[in-house]
Amino acid sequence: MRTILIRDATLYDGAGGPPETADVAIEDSRIAEVGSVDGGAATEIDATGLAVAPGFIDVHTHDDFAALLHPEMAFKSLGGVTTCIVGNCGMGAAPWAEAARMARVFHPGRDVPRYEGHAGYLALLDDRPPGVNVGMLAGHGTLRLASMERPGESEPSASEMAAMKALLREALEAGALGLSTGLIYEPGRNARTEELVELATEMRGTGALYTTHMRDEAAGLLDAVGEAIRVGEEARVPVQISHHKVTGRAQWGLVERSLASIDAARARGVRVAADQYPYTAGSTILAAMVQNRMVGEGADAVVTPDDVVLASSPGHPEWEGKSLATLRAELGASLEDVIGRVLSEAPLTTVILHTMSEDDVRTVLRHPTTMIGSDGIPTLDSKPHPRLYGSFARVLGRYAREEGTLPMAEAVRRMTGLAADTFGLEGRGYVRAGHAADLVVFDEAAIVDRGTFEHPTRLPDGIRHVFVNGVEVARGQTHTGARPGRALRRRSDESSRPSTATPSAGGRASSFRRPARW
Ligand code: ZN
Ligand code: CU
Repeated sequence: MRTILIRDATLYDGAGGPPETADVAIEDSRIAEVGSVDGGAATEIDATGLAVAPGFIDVHTHDDFAALLHPEMAFKSLGGVTTCIVGNCGMGAAPWAEAARMARVFHPGRDVPRYEGHAGYLALLDDRPPGVNVGMLAGHGTLRLASMERPGESEPSASEMAAMKALLREALEAGALGLSTGLIYEPGRNARTEELVELATEMRGTGALYTTHMRDEAAGLLDAVGEAIRVGEEARVPVQISHHKVTGRAQWGLVERSLASIDAARARGVRVAADQYPYTAGSTILAAMVQNRMVGEGADAVVTPDDVVLASSPGHPEWEGKSLATLRAELGASLEDVIGRVLSEAPLTTVILHTMSEDDVRTVLRHPTTMIGSDGIPTLDSKPHPRLYGSFARVLGRYAREEGTLPMAEAVRRMTGLAADTFGLEGRGYVRAGHAADLVVFDEAAIVDRGTFEHPTRLPDGIRHVFVNGVEVARGQTHTGARPGRALRRRSDESSRPSTATPSAGGRASSFRRPARW
């Protein structure tokens, strides 16, 4: 018996072609039929005038611990997201002790359950399923922290390198989708390119990818893109440039040239792509900004005190929502003293940086290889960047519908099919028979983000139903409480994986026989 039938929807199937009117039948956790469907179902949804699309894949998140501590993941589901990729920017979920340090930044005062290794993290998600699917990257910074006696040094010893590789292999065997780096953060920033190539080479032939928060997203952007491409080219693995952008007014426009480098690399056969959050402001940890000398008042400062707004400041909620310039005036101190005080009294402070150009956001979004990754920081009790809730609705409503930056069908492809293909999420990302029933039903005339920097938690408009593995998790702006998400694992042997071009006999990819995994 069909469990759910969505009737007469405008279908965006995730491949980017023009939409068609279609019915979508769901049977248990899978899409059973797409097209003109006869017969009934236990639940029927009249979607006349509404669109149906694959559930959105948030390729860049920091939800490793949110998935355990806030397992409904309502802040993602209510924005149409059905899959989160965790472990970004070099910060991974294992080893536990090192990962738990990150958890303390994002979830102050909360206990993180223990587990053993990357395999243990995914097994914990199997036992305590969240409301969204979770795919995992290993984090280079976390591996480095766990393997090196002095992680602040640039060169690991031979035995330290071997330890990092062993941890990476454990992650890949557990089903990690790739390895992420965070080359502005401690301790990843100390690594030389050779270390990154050597580690990435461990992934050769597995299909896993190298994702990177690059060393420089300001004046040194082009060199940083060059380094990312070099890692992929020498290690022969795909590269994902995280949250592609350029920071600081003096550099605006530089993304034209960084995108040209991506195109040139692709033309010589390197698999390079990028993701983006659709805002002119970023967000990071204040300590990292200071370490990278980004904030200042001189002509060479990338970021001015007006550009930097405190987002979460554990112990000092009264500072949240205020810029460094405002704090300086209120505290009557120099910029240096203000920063010193914030870092000593609230060392885990996260900030929002208003430093990008709207034209650059559009230029990156138009590029055909750009996916969507919210990069949201799940500090739910504070004033997080609104990208945590609204990134996907914003791309569809503001950029596709209102501005015409890219067609609606193409915008959907970037957040579904392209993302699934790039990260190796088999059987997801498309509305096709046999695929997992991760679906979003939305009103394409109404969908838009509502969150602002002042009120970041306002939910997007226009999302009507969200299904994860065939179970409804969101109805309008209400979470159903269901937690049907799964831990998604990459199969370790790429050669045994059916390619999308040549499905295995019978047209069913072998992964379909592994419902517990994919
Ligand atoms: Zn990052
Ligand atoms: Cu990030």
